[in-house]
Amino acid sequence: MQPKLVQQHAAVAAVDLVKVYGAGDTAVRALDGVTVGFDRGRFTAIMGPSGSGKSTLMHCLAGLDTATSGQVLLGDTDLTRQPDRVLTKARRERIGFVFQSFNLLPQLTAAANITLPLDLAGLNPDPEFFDRLVTTLGLAGRLTHRPSELSGGQQQRVALARALVSRPEVVFADEPTGNLDSRSGAEVLRLLRDSVRDLGQTIVMVTHDPGAAAYADRVVMLADGRLAGEIDRPDIASVTDALQSLAAGR
Ligand SMILES: Nc1ncnc2c1ncn2[C@@H]1O[C@H](COP(=O)(O)OP(=O)(O)OP(=O)(O)O)[C@@H](O)[C@H]1O
Ligand SMILES: [Mg+2]
Repeated sequence: MQPKLVQQHAAVAAVDLVKVYGAGDTAVRALDGVTVGFDRGRFTAIMGPSGSGKSTLMHCLAGLDTATSGQVLLGDTDLTRQPDRVLTKARRERIGFVFQSFNLLPQLTAAANITLPLDLAGLNPDPEFFDRLVTTLGLAGRLTHRPSELSGGQQQRVALARALVSRPEVVFADEPTGNLDSRSGAEVLRLLRDSVRDLGQTIVMVTHDPGAAAYADRVVMLADGRLAGEIDRPDIASVTDALQSLAAGR
């Protein structure tokens, strides 16, 4: 695919992306020429065996890690060709990230954790959107609590609010339900899906769980650092089948 073609439709795209960790005999080719676009206003899940490059791909797409070669296009911006200053600004203002382990600051209240990226960028949250977000996420009564005073599900909802509050062009979530019980996990997945449906948010999520992937509009499969197929409008059965075929090397 030509870079321009990917770019026209995609909120974010990788073009022939390669990531090599280390050098010489111990070098690991974590991404081996990945070209994939993620459409605006869609919810995409990335799946594949452990070590297939899912987190590496997300980190490169989000500007948290630098690729060895290839391009990362965020809208019209090639993130691989930006100075650190521009990359940091893009990360703060155009990208949201949700980690498996929440990554909240323990000394800050929920409200302060949510607005931290905006504070760092010297921006004020839109008060109406902030209210709508915390109400939707069921956090209105928890804003003065610190992370240690919140359940795992509540902490992940705070992390989600933090990722969404600046209305970023893309939200990346790396196994956001990995540390949650099934009820809290389902709640977080519904919120992700609703933010795509109601706010037009673009979301890319890594998951191992076919049930979680079924919330997405599309599943992209990785194996050995390469694209290994995709599923449009996935359900649990189609995702489970595809994973079994991958594991069997078919
Ligand atoms: N910082 C690093 N240094 C060296 N090798 C790394 C580093 N990070 C990842 N790798 C290697 O790159 C490959 C891809 O790792 P990655 O974390 O992207 O996989 P993943 O698909 O997210 O796996 P999992 O499902 O277990 O989270 C693996 O072989 C891994 O060991
Ligand atoms: Mg990973």
